[in-house]
Amino acid sequence: MNHPLPPETSERPLAPGQRLAHAARTSLSESCVQEIQALATKYPDKLAATLPALYLAQADMGFAGLEAMREVARVLEIPEGHVFGVATFYTMFHQKPVGKYHLQVCTNLCCALRGGAQLFEKLRQRLAVQPGEVTADGMWSIEEVECLGSCGTGPCLQVNHEVYDEFIDDAKLDAVIEACRQGHVPEWGK
Ligand code: FES
Repeated sequence: MNHPLPPETSERPLAPGQRLAHAARTSLSESCVQEIQALATKYPDKLAATLPALYLAQADMGFAGLEAMREVARVLEIPEGHVFGVATFYTMFHQKPVGKYHLQVCTNLCCALRGGAQLFEKLRQRLAVQPGEVTADGMWSIEEVECLGSCGTGPCLQVNHEVYDEFIDDAKLDAVIEACRQGHVPEWGK
């Protein structure tokens, strides 16, 4: 039985009448479908391909919304509920659009002791964006996240898929932001 996805959800409870963003497309590109199908052959059980398939779907559709989750379930022929559980558990899957540069700051204990919360606040002010929002020009979004796996050299900052964990100070933060503005950091999904 293919368990259906639960009702719309988000990282925070939705207000009455509020809905999750919809992707521009409701289906994956043909090349993405083929990539996921090829991926599935590498695993003894298709369920095991859920994580990498969601990565591909997210890159293809821009974010891992309900449409992407449904497509992964359809292509892998696995329960939608399973895909939903995986996609909503991991913070690397975004259920709504993010900026060209999505900046995540770890504020777990080790990074908190080294100024993780302060780093996040600086980002919020310098980029003039609130968590969960995207700037009007589509450039920036920010998120506070759990451990990014570099606890000894925090506070840890991740920009799209690049990790910056060498004791980020003001000068380094400015350099990272400028590198994004200059297009020296790969855009989200690229
Ligand atoms: S606690 Fe921040 S990277 Fe682990």
